[in-house]
Amino acid sequence: MRVSLLAAVDLDGCIGKSGNHKLQWRQAEDMKRFKELTTGQVVIMGYNTFASLGFKPLPNRINIVISRKHIEELRTNKEILCTSSLESAISLAKDMYLCNEAFIIGGALVYNEAIAKRLVKRIYLTVVMTQCGGDAFIHVPDFAKTPYNDWVTVKSEKVKADEKNEFPMIFFVHEERNN
Ligand SMILES: NC(=O)c1ccc[n+]([C@@H]2O[C@H](COP(=O)([O-])OP(=O)(O)OC[C@H]3O[C@@H](n4cnc5c(N)ncnc54)[C@H](OP(=O)(O)O)[C@@H]3O)[C@@H](O)[C@H]2O)c1
Repeated sequence: MRVSLLAAVDLDGCIGKSGNHKLQWRQAEDMKRFKELTTGQVVIMGYNTFASLGFKPLPNRINIVISRKHIEELRTNKEILCTSSLESAISLAKDMYLCNEAFIIGGALVYNEAIAKRLVKRIYLTVVMTQCGGDAFIHVPDFAKTPYNDWVTVKSEKVKADEKNEFPMIFFVHEERNN
């Protein structure tokens, strides 16, 4: 199973505002892409991101939620799987034989741990052409530098702003070579 990271960032690498778990932009095409990529697969998220979904799993996906403080509370929710570390979430995902990709879908803590520990082989990054002024950031790897210079950009697709997409954006897919 491939382990991937899926995120939308602004031009500064910002993904949102603390205390406000709504996305900072209205990008219908990005939402559509998120749904198409993740449906039928595994999604891994931190407790705060799960809270932002109203403590409801994303439908038609296996939802794995990571928490230390709230693990007992999460265990009572029969619609999700839960665990207390990112590594154990990934190994749980790998047991889901009918899925071929696990997506780490946020938030900031989980993304940054996955990047720092190099736990993903593919990064789906939507860069939204705005500066949202938030305070939650992803440390987007510099793919030109060590240890990421063995990565390649396999896709970059520009999407124009229109009535359903507030800002122009670029869909990138970065992949570790030989993965
Ligand atoms: N733009 C995007 O693509 C996108 C996507 C998702 C979220 N976001 C944004 O991300 C921001 C929220 O980020 P966040 O860091 O607060 O949320 P988060 O990563 O969803 O949740 C953090 C919580 O998850 C648990 N956790 C995380 N890593 C863990 C680990 N290794 N082991 C055990 N537990 C772990 C902890 O829960 P406990 O405290 O319960 O132990 C921690 O407090 C918001 O602004 C939101 O809008 C943006």
